[in-house]
This record gives sequence, C-alpha cells and structure tokens, in this order.
Amino acid sequence: MRIFVKPLLVLPLLLNAITFVNAQVPGTSLAMTPPMGWNSWNVWGCNIDAQKIRDAADRLVATGLAAKGYNYVVIDDCWQGERDAQGELQPNAKFGDMKALADYVHSKGLKIGIYSSPGPRTCQGYLGSQGYEQQDADTFARWGMDFLKYDKCSYKGDDYTAYKIMADAVKKTGRPMLLSACNYGKQKVWQWAAELGYAMWRTTGDIENSWEQMKSNGFSQSKLAEYAGPGHWNDPDMLIVGHLEGRNGRTRPTKLTQVEQYTHISLWALLASPLFIGADLTKLDQFTLDILSHDEVLAINQDPLGQQARRVYQIRRDDIQVWLRPLSDGTYAVGIFNLSDEDRTGPDSLEFNLKTLGFQGDITVRDVWKNQTLNAPKLRLQIPAHGSVLMRVTGTLQPK
Ligand code: GLA
Repeated sequence: MRIFVKPLLVLPLLLNAITFVNAQVPGTSLAMTPPMGWNSWNVWGCNIDAQKIRDAADRLVATGLAAKGYNYVVIDDCWQGERDAQGELQPNAKFGDMKALADYVHSKGLKIGIYSSPGPRTCQGYLGSQGYEQQDADTFARWGMDFLKYDKCSYKGDDYTAYKIMADAVKKTGRPMLLSACNYGKQKVWQWAAELGYAMWRTTGDIENSWEQMKSNGFSQSKLAEYAGPGHWNDPDMLIVGHLEGRNGRTRPTKLTQVEQYTHISLWALLASPLFIGADLTKLDQFTLDILSHDEVLAINQDPLGQQARRVYQIRRDDIQVWLRPLSDGTYAVGIFNLSDEDRTGPDSLEFNLKTLGFQGDITVRDVWKNQTLNAPKLRLQIPAHGSVLMRVTGTLQPK
C-alpha cells in the first residue's frame, strides 16, 4: 500500500523537530538542578581503593544523604593502571574489576563517576586519555560509568578542542554520562563548556581545607552568575566539611569553624553550586550531617529556576556582603555575610534594612537555618566574624 503524506502535514512535523533541537538544554538534561554527591579527592587523594568507594556508597545510603539527593559517587584521580596491548586502559590493583564496582554502586541506587585528563598524564602522573579519547569513553561506558570528571592537568593547548573531543566521544558511546570540566576556570570555560554538553565546570583553582581558600573560591563567583542555569553550572569546587585530608592514612576534621561551615554551605546553596561532599563518610558527625542535609537549604541550592546568586550590596569593601538569589516560587534567598574578623554581635550587631536592596511593601523574612521569622524590613542581626545569615524573603523587589 502506498502511504501518501500531505506536504502540509509534514511541515509541522519538521518544525517540531527543529524546535526540539533548539529546545535542547545547554549542558545536559541530566543536571536540571546542581549535581550532588561524593568525590574521593578531598579526603583520600591518591590513598584510594575500591573498598573506600564501596564504603562511601554504603554510607551515603545509611546516613540518609542519598535520599537527600547526594547520588553520585565519584572516583577522582589515582585509579588508573597501564594500557594493555590493545591500548585499553586498565584500573590499578587497588581497584580490580571496575564493572563490579559500578554494579555495586548501582545496586545501592546510586550513580558512579570516574576521572581522566585530556593530557598524556593526570595531575598525579597517572595515564590520561590523550590520543585514546574514544577508546577510554567506550571503556567507561562499558564499565557503567554515569559521570566523567575531565581534568586538564598535563594538557597543553586549546581547551575547547580537547574538551570537545571527549564530549563527542562520550556522546558516541550512547551512554548518558554527566560531564564535569575541570580546567580551573581557564580560557573562559563558562562561555563554551555548556554548548559542548558539560553540566558543570570548575571556575577556580582547587579548594584547600582553609577559610581563606573557601572564601576566595566562593565569594568571587558573582560575575559568573549569568552562565549558570538548568543543565549547566559554575563549580567553585567541592565541600570542605567533615573529616578530610586522609592522603597519608589519617583524616583530620575540617579546619573551618562551625560558623564558617554555615557560611560555606549557605554560599554554595546561593551559588547553585554542585554539592560534592569530600569527607570520610564513615566518620560523619551529627553536626556535619545536619548541615549537609538541611531541607530548606538544599531546596535553595536545588531550586528549579536555577538562577545563581549575585552580590547585590557591600559595606566597607568586603566586610559585609549581601547576596541575592531569585527562587522559582517568587521568593528570594538572601545571604548576609560578615567576612571581617570582627564579631557583629551584642552592641555591635548589624542593622540592615531590606529596603536598601529594593524590597517594597509587605516583607516577610525567615532565617532558614534557625527556622525563625525575623522582623522586616529592618533587620538587627547577630553575625560573628566569618558568619552569615541565610534568609528566605517574601516581598516585592524593585531592583535598584
Ligand atoms: C586537580 C583537580 C582536583 C583533583 C586533582 C587530582 O588538582 O583540580 O580537583 O582532581 O587534580 O589530581
């Protein structure tokens, strides 16, 4: 039988197809909200093995963090062995069967990620993917990887080209993998990584376990806000809470004070940053678990509008900063940060009128961590040195 299709019927179909292509999410539909999970680097460095990855998966589930959305378990550098006669990259003896490891992580309802470099060597001197991109992408897909962190390290040259080769290779495998670009914010990565299919890209150098480094990574992000959105996120690097730095066997607690940890998590929530825990999850204390699991804070980080906060106000250069993030329900997340070394408490408490930001009419304010209503619009806040208040503000905003 001859099927006759009228041209007028075909046209809308064609238009639909074109709209579909145009409507594709920049970055990837795998990350409509900022990706969350655990990564081995900040805690184990090269001191990793398959058992530590399994432990992390077990603990994500047992602590309830997986249920809160932390669902990627990412193996960072140092898992690699040599290439075999066919050029196939092998894991080293501490990992053994990668497919079995991926199956284990999947059996916990989690996803698994792996790490490579566009250079000949990774940052720790293990084999990178240069010249073997398609073969490595195929290997990662066959093992069942769901995520690839691609770290510049020894690569010299045009980053766009190198990151495109791997993104295309991964696409060719047919396996959905969330792509994470790590080139330390070089070559304006935020301008081109999303179009290549990367869901997140590092915007800074490595976060170290220190207040200064967290502050410099996090508070430098305002100018990049326009580049983040559903499917594609700026990444000021992983979280430094919990027990870290176990490269030599013994982990140590974060060097951030509790006050600084609230600031860290509040800022990462406002920035719509990917949330990757870098801690030993077998040693998770209640405080760390609580700040990582706070529903309202996570709701800000994961807000579907996906707008990253901007710095909207500063007093005395950097001492007091106010950051604002519009949310999908029409409310605003607002963070007021005291970056100075002086407490703004007691008689020195901080007075701030939300009208300064352009809020008008009836305003209600909730302190998100404390679950308290604050007097609006005139706030009187107790903020210790390096501390912050994270608020959800309901009201009309006329930006100034
Ligand atoms: C770079 C990255 C880190 C980590 C190490 C591993 O420094 O920025 O996040 O992946 O390499 O060697």
